[in-house]
Amino acid sequence: MSIPIKDRLQEVYSADGDRQKLDRAYDDWAKTYDQDLWGTGNPHLVIMAGMACRYVRDPEGLTLDAGCGTGMLGQVLSPLGFTRLVGLDASEGMLAAAKDKAVYEALHHLLLGAEIGLPSESFDAVVASGVLTQGHAPPESLDGMLSLAKPGAPILFSMSEIAMNDSGFGAKIDALDSAGAWEKLAWSGRFQSYPFLPEQAHLRHWICAYRKAG
Ligand SMILES: C[S@@+](CC[C@H](N)C(=O)[O-])C[C@H]1O[C@@H](n2cnc3c(N)ncnc32)[C@H](O)[C@@H]1O
Repeated sequence: MSIPIKDRLQEVYSADGDRQKLDRAYDDWAKTYDQDLWGTGNPHLVIMAGMACRYVRDPEGLTLDAGCGTGMLGQVLSPLGFTRLVGLDASEGMLAAAKDKAVYEALHHLLLGAEIGLPSESFDAVVASGVLTQGHAPPESLDGMLSLAKPGAPILFSMSEIAMNDSGFGAKIDALDSAGAWEKLAWSGRFQSYPFLPEQAHLRHWICAYRKAG
């Protein structure tokens, strides 16, 4: 029996810091996630891809897709010339679906946070879509992503409006600005995350682009 998308969203947004609950919810959703997501009209992948093409100067460099999920972003970036994609995600079920897409040269079962178990300053670009959101990855994930990026590398992420205001991302972004850790390149206009789901009209995102200092 197929589970309605509103129930899937309710499950992942109500995990509220319960790691096992969230990972189980995504493991369970992995097989139908792509079809469900495309069906919501969520424009985040399209906007992220446009900004990646604008701000990543060398798409053939090593690009980390942090919180890659089933690999929908990789599936869009690969035909645009991003030839060296590496993904990481907390859910093994989502990673298995990403592997099936055959666009990632490596996939890692890892958590986003202040420290991420990959070599520091090893990526030419970092992208993250749909993961810097309430109850998913903490604001310190931005420190972790910055430490994996080479000096001068672009870092692009989708930012949930609720997480920005209520989960400490706004303060973290301000702190990184003040510390000169990165340079702001651009923020997209704010967009509705699920335009085909009127009951989710309160969920909005931006796509944010920065360049690591150095
Ligand atoms: C809404 S999905 C987005 C997936 C994909 N990036 C996309 O745009 O379709 C969120 C993903 O983030 C992963 N995730 C949540 N918290 C995480 C964390 N702290 N570290 C790594 N991955 C995490 C989930 O397992 C899930 O695959």
